[in-house]
Amino acid sequence: MSKSIPIDQAAGSVGKSVQIHGWIHRKRGSGGILFIVVRDRTGTIQASVKKDLITQNGWAEISAAAIESSIILSGTIKSEPRAPTGYELEASSVKIVGGSEPFPITEYQSAELLLDNRHLWLRSQRMRDIMKTRAYVFRYLRKFLDTRGFYEITPPLLTTAGGETGADLFEVDYFGQKAYLTESSQFYSEAMVFSLEKVYSFAPSYRAEKSRTIKHLAEYWHLEPEMAYSDNNKNMKLQEMLVSNTANMLAKNNEDLLKSFGVDPQLLLKIKPPFKRITYEKALQILNDKGADKKWGDDLGVEDERLLTEDEEKPVFVTLWPREIKPFYMPINPKDERTVLCADLQAPKGQGEIIGGSERIWKMDELKERIAEVEKNKQVKIALENYQWWLDLRRYGSVPHAGFGLGVERIIKWLLNLDHIRDAIPFPRTINRAYP
Ligand code: 4AD
Ligand code: MG
Repeated sequence: MSKSIPIDQAAGSVGKSVQIHGWIHRKRGSGGILFIVVRDRTGTIQASVKKDLITQNGWAEISAAAIESSIILSGTIKSEPRAPTGYELEASSVKIVGGSEPFPITEYQSAELLLDNRHLWLRSQRMRDIMKTRAYVFRYLRKFLDTRGFYEITPPLLTTAGGETGADLFEVDYFGQKAYLTESSQFYSEAMVFSLEKVYSFAPSYRAEKSRTIKHLAEYWHLEPEMAYSDNNKNMKLQEMLVSNTANMLAKNNEDLLKSFGVDPQLLLKIKPPFKRITYEKALQILNDKGADKKWGDDLGVEDERLLTEDEEKPVFVTLWPREIKPFYMPINPKDERTVLCADLQAPKGQGEIIGGSERIWKMDELKERIAEVEKNKQVKIALENYQWWLDLRRYGSVPHAGFGLGVERIIKWLLNLDHIRDAIPFPRTINRAYP
């Protein structure tokens, strides 16, 4: 039996007899010879299949096989100047494992058709490369935190209350009671710092935002570290190290993937701490100098984010936001009571917010005051009965703490310079799509 190899090892196997497990990517030829381009997870190779060299059965199978049939080929790797790579597999045996019906995706297809057939489109080289990058980004993020003493924790995704705007919650019928898909696991990460001190959750978050933008998903993967005895400053330091490390690791280890998206690894190697820090107030000034019309209390939209960092090469922190537009868990800044102790991290080149983080109010009296303020401002009632467990954290041995939430698909979109966030996740859930 010849040795089974991944296709990317074929170049080093010239003259050897090997076996390849893959899928038929293209097929041409006639008469007594067929040229089959086979793909596996590592790449593609041309195989020549000659009628005289294989069994009659094998020839009948390969002649009838449609593209995307799965196939096992055995043969010898030979140098062949006419093959695209300079070598090919000369087949001595062919086995079709699973035949294929006519494949619904052909060369030029609309974005909608590709989304309808996402389960099949994931086989394309582009999606394969994005999904590999995604797996590496997950790996690098986890590894960075794991080697710095963080424990990964697993939060529940079904909850009884939200912690962010609350307006964007998906409601679930929970055995006759109302429950929600979590919009952030922060409150659960908070609970765990009183036990493990440095933790992170890495789980989906759900946002029923009715926004149809290139950066919003209804379901996204959210990395949420939380640290005891941390503050806004330490929080930002960790973020810039984490983000730099992820960009640098990709540049060092996955150059080929980056290049297939036209991304220069040298640019990602330049992403190093410290990142620029500008206050929200300064950000408004920059935007207004560029012709925007922003006033205190306005949030930043997609176009503002683009203007703000269009000329930046590294991410930028926007710190100290107005207290009236940030959630009730963020503490008032003692040096400027109009603001809270928080920071959002904006990706360079106008790619938008990738992280939101803050200190957390850790004293009960302060928290109750702030909740009352938010209820008064927003004319809402925050159902405290659903947060009793979270308030308890302030009742029993509380400590100052801080944390942040990083949207993984936002980071992937930025790093690979993708047009739309939906390509950063295998099966995107957006406002008009939950299929396939
Ligand atoms: O700024 P957000 O809403 O902050 C929180 O949820 C905090 N509780 C996080 C924390 O402190 N533990 O969301 C954090 C990040 C954003 O910066 C963005 O990267 C991502 O989550 N995000 C989304 N990603 C894709 N689609 C959406 N609809 C997103 N909404 C937020
Ligand atoms: Mg945010």
